[in-house]
Amino acid sequence: MKIGLPKEIKDNEYRVGLTPAGVRALTDAGHEVFVQKTAGEGSGFKDEQYVQAGGKMLDTADEVWQIGDMVVKVKEPIAPEYSRMRENQVLFTYLHLAPELELTKQMMDRKVTGVAYETITDRNGRLPLLTPMSEVAGRMSVQVGATYLEKMNGGKGILLGGVPGVSAANVVIIGGGVVGTEAAKMAVGMGAKVTIIDRSLDRLRQLDDIFLSKVQTIASSRYTIEDAISNADLVIGAVLVVGAAAPKLVTRDMLKLLPSGSILVDVAVDQGGCFETTHATTHSNPTYVEGGVLHYCVANMPGAVPRTSTFALTNATLPYALALANKGFERAIREDGGLAEGVNTYAGKLTYEAVATSQGREYTPLASLIKGI
Ligand SMILES: NC(=O)c1ccc[n+]([C@@H]2O[C@H](COP(=O)([O-])OP(=O)(O)OC[C@H]3O[C@@H](n4cnc5c(N)ncnc54)[C@H](O)[C@@H]3O)[C@@H](O)[C@H]2O)c1
Repeated sequence: MKIGLPKEIKDNEYRVGLTPAGVRALTDAGHEVFVQKTAGEGSGFKDEQYVQAGGKMLDTADEVWQIGDMVVKVKEPIAPEYSRMRENQVLFTYLHLAPELELTKQMMDRKVTGVAYETITDRNGRLPLLTPMSEVAGRMSVQVGATYLEKMNGGKGILLGGVPGVSAANVVIIGGGVVGTEAAKMAVGMGAKVTIIDRSLDRLRQLDDIFLSKVQTIASSRYTIEDAISNADLVIGAVLVVGAAAPKLVTRDMLKLLPSGSILVDVAVDQGGCFETTHATTHSNPTYVEGGVLHYCVANMPGAVPRTSTFALTNATLPYALALANKGFERAIREDGGLAEGVNTYAGKLTYEAVATSQGREYTPLASLIKGI
């Protein structure tokens, strides 16, 4: 298969769809990979590394999209990329189509086979290509929280781990899934006193087994959240209710309970946030003060660490890219129902029900278009 690797052009996007190691794996399997010049630059990969891995460099995005039977990317195509998409081309990337009316129309009109990272499922029904970015954001949330607790950054001027003879900081994590667990690992590692609040008792049992006495696990309720945040130096929002807006677990009123100079980091901001006072911010202007409390609510936290994020993402995507290339699209989705879940557009039809519902468009089950899936 001919595989195209264009450079990302969305504002402030420095990740890339394949590392040189990924290109090596694909070329070793007999495929040709066409890499746009400087595609890996933002993640610290030089063109020569791609060439050494067997990639063929092309000057322009147009050439890469023109030649690729499959195009591997990170972000959904934006307007200048629309006209480059071709009929029957497999586009393997994050798509997040629900709010993208024009992109959806373009992909349908152009009969692009859109395989979305975010809707691929694994055997346990989880979303394996979202997990790596949650891991990055979870670990980063403690790093940014620690930074903003420094006095000159607006915090109360404390060190997460304290020092011998001085108390460590209290970190409260609301939501003990992927983000919450990775945040807890970092906070425990830095010596903080950590509380994780979750509504799932099974999840709290698992966390208790993982961390033993190093974290407090608390069942979620308004009462327990109020109690926990009254002593918190850093509160991390990490809840997710799949397919729904995040519940507002810390209301504007409750901010009064927070000790002065405490910090809120709302990782769940991409689902609307779990603090009532959350609104999305960017890396160029990441924080704001509301109700007297400093909030950090960056919607694409992994964008700050593109090199780590590119490795983490491609570790998870490469096996699927290899399956698509080795077996061809139809056989690959026939043999892996979870990969078939990733197909959002095919042959001019919208094949992902939730996207169709949210856009008020007709939904066509993929099984009615391709036999045997
Ligand atoms: N800002 C960013 O850059 C960024 C990056 C990655 C992920 N995220 C977001 O972070 C959020 C968490 O992602 P995740 O992968 O950890 O999800 P997850 O499904 O692994 O974990 C979510 C947890 O929230 C818990 N929860 C749900 N309702 C709750 C409630 N009322 N009280 C307490 N806990 C509750 C669930 O039981 C679950 O354990 C998502 O919204 C995700 O999109 C943001």
